[in-house]
Amino acid sequence: MQAELQTPEVAQSQHDLGDSRRRFIANLEPSRRGFVTNYPNFQHWKKVQPEQVYPVAPVNIYVHIPFCAQQCSYCYYRTVTGSRKSEMDRYVDALCKEIEQSSERFGLRERPISSIYFGGGTPTLLDEKSLSKITETLHKYLKLDSNNMLEFTVEGEPVTVIKKKADALKKLGANRISMGVQSLCDDVLKLSNRQDTEEKVTRAIGFAQETGAAVNIDLMSGLAGESMETWQYTVKRALETGVESITVYKTELYANTQYFKDLRNEKITLPNDEEEIEFMRYAMDQFANANYLPWCFFTFTKNGNYQHVHATRIWEGEDYFPFGVSAFGRLGSFLFQNTNDVSNYVEQMERGETPIVRGHRMTALDEIVRDILLGIKLNFLDYGYFHDKYGFNLDSLCGKEINELATKGYVERKDGRLVLTHEGMVQGDYTGKFLARALINQYAV
Ligand SMILES: C[S@@+](CC[C@H](N)C(=O)[O-])C[C@H]1O[C@@H](n2cnc3c(N)ncnc32)[C@H](O)[C@@H]1O
Ligand code: SF4
Repeated sequence: MQAELQTPEVAQSQHDLGDSRRRFIANLEPSRRGFVTNYPNFQHWKKVQPEQVYPVAPVNIYVHIPFCAQQCSYCYYRTVTGSRKSEMDRYVDALCKEIEQSSERFGLRERPISSIYFGGGTPTLLDEKSLSKITETLHKYLKLDSNNMLEFTVEGEPVTVIKKKADALKKLGANRISMGVQSLCDDVLKLSNRQDTEEKVTRAIGFAQETGAAVNIDLMSGLAGESMETWQYTVKRALETGVESITVYKTELYANTQYFKDLRNEKITLPNDEEEIEFMRYAMDQFANANYLPWCFFTFTKNGNYQHVHATRIWEGEDYFPFGVSAFGRLGSFLFQNTNDVSNYVEQMERGETPIVRGHRMTALDEIVRDILLGIKLNFLDYGYFHDKYGFNLDSLCGKEINELATKGYVERKDGRLVLTHEGMVQGDYTGKFLARALINQYAV
């Protein structure tokens, strides 16, 4: 978690600690005297409780469902379409086996769970029986204590969120439903090979809202066929739904998509970067007028009330464990990912193997850079957090670049924080990448 703002006393004690560290090696002369027994010196060690020494750190759970009703033309996710029920059932069985096996193998059983996220693909494509089977398995093998478990999100495509499905999500305990809406203009949806229509989408949002869960909808700026006029309509209709939060993704073009092929064959055109920036500026103005406030630089919440726990915790560096094909996670300084082939995944689980195929142990530099890149998505970096965790002042690491960004109007230093300005938010990850580049260029070997 990012630390609270530093009080003057904390800042003073950190300064004392720095002084004491400097004294530790001051007046250094060649000598065999002064055998080093420990570091940092005991003088600054404080009284602690045993649970501080061995903290049972919370973990977040990600469950991946790869199935979709169709392959949307812009989508770069590895998804599976046209699956038979028997194939989905086999996948769900494999998933449940992984939950049972990995909760034991990776010591997850004792750890408090902060959040669960069923992502995809399209989790709402599964029937009620399969969704309950997965949820029951999580309950059986993990500590889903309602005191700690703050959020249970299920991602869905509106066309699959019928009344019966929404009721099932409520029964499972989902308290956040996130739907890919992308656009509320039928022509734009059709050009992206979506089955949804404005009517189906608004009906599905209504069903999701009736469950009492917080509803998020994703919009995409820069789809094929988008103009300022269609975008204005989408933003207006999105606000009229009264959902808890609206997320705007900038359309990214990937080589594995139908968009990529259609663009090359001149079947479609896409808005250019300048047009997309204008779409984002327009949306942010409308959101501000409706008091939808930025929780991160691409999600805006009604009256600033809803914080998406799962993403916040991950961006703040908490662990997350992945279940399912191609899912990735983090335990401590290790990042890792499961196989991205569904058949391999299912077969490996049936043989009782672990599906993890690749990983990376982060260096201290990786962790600092990651904390900058992901942390700033929440619109600020906390100086105290970096000081407490790494012992560095952020300004001493990349003060020159921070000054440059401040001069360009993307950030400002305020109350112990480096805060993104409105323009900084419009430019998305640019600020984080600018600072990350400085650190990598200077320190990476
Ligand atoms: C994994 S999808 C889940 C939602 C659900 N399957 C649906 O489409 O309704 C998550 C979100 O990723 C976003 N997305 C997919 N492809 C994208 C792309 N090429 N560029 C930017 N965002 C994209 C979409 O906004 C989508 O809602
Ligand atoms: S946008 Fe959603 S429904 Fe469409 S292919 Fe991607 S994950 Fe599947």
